Amino acid sequence: MNRLNHVAIIMDGNGRWGLKHKKSRNAGHKAGLKTVEKIIKTTIKNKIKYLTLYAFSTENWKRPKKEINFLFNLLENFLTERIDDLHKQNIKLKIIGEKIFSSKLNKLLRLSEKKTLNNKKLQINLALNYGSKTELISAFKKLQKNKVKISEYNIKKYLLTNKIPDPDILIRTGNTQRLSNFLLWQLAYTEIFFEKKLWPDFNEKDFGKILNKYQKIRRNFGRV
Ligand code: FPP
Repeated sequence: MNRLNHVAIIMDGNGRWGLKHKKSRNAGHKAGLKTVEKIIKTTIKNKIKYLTLYAFSTENWKRPKKEINFLFNLLENFLTERIDDLHKQNIKLKIIGEKIFSSKLNKLLRLSEKKTLNNKKLQINLALNYGSKTELISAFKKLQKNKVKISEYNIKKYLLTNKIPDPDILIRTGNTQRLSNFLLWQLAYTEIFFEKKLWPDFNEKDFGKILNKYQKIRRNFGRV
């Protein structure tokens, strides 16, 4: 059996799904949130300890203001309504990315992290305003400032994911095969699955198929 601690997901395809089914990209984001809920349940069922979701990249600020506002409102409503329940389910929420949103959302994110800090069943890392290059530059700057030797061990210590094991699996939905500035350091030995379905159409069964395929892979980490 391959060890399975951490699944990371690039949830791509909301916009296309929304345009196809409801003539609005934002409707796709709303539907995408339902998939997030389903996948959290499946992750718990499969006893996976870490789930990292790419919800908003440093590059996503280039989107129309209306779409950005919609996404952050969606997140705000989701947390307001669901954080107590996530807490009851023993789920820990961690934000990776600098919190530079509205003061209301920043506060809500901080409170949600604080409330769920000691939870143990599943850690959800929500990548928000996250970009791997920014993360790496910031880590190198800290190493330089503290006059710390550049080594794999020390670089990891200064990453936003410092206490999180590297992902075993990366899933990208939406029929696009690229990493989009996501966890470039952490994905060095991750098994990558590109999924044709758009994120709102992705379901528990698709997730299960990927977990089965993953178990058939011989992970040799550079050995023979
Ligand atoms: C990428 O699809 C998706 C995003 C940039 C946002 C992800 C957001 C969600 C899944 C819903 C909200 C989640 C939370 C946690 C509140 P895209 O819009 O780039 O799709 P496209 O490639 O079809 O344009």
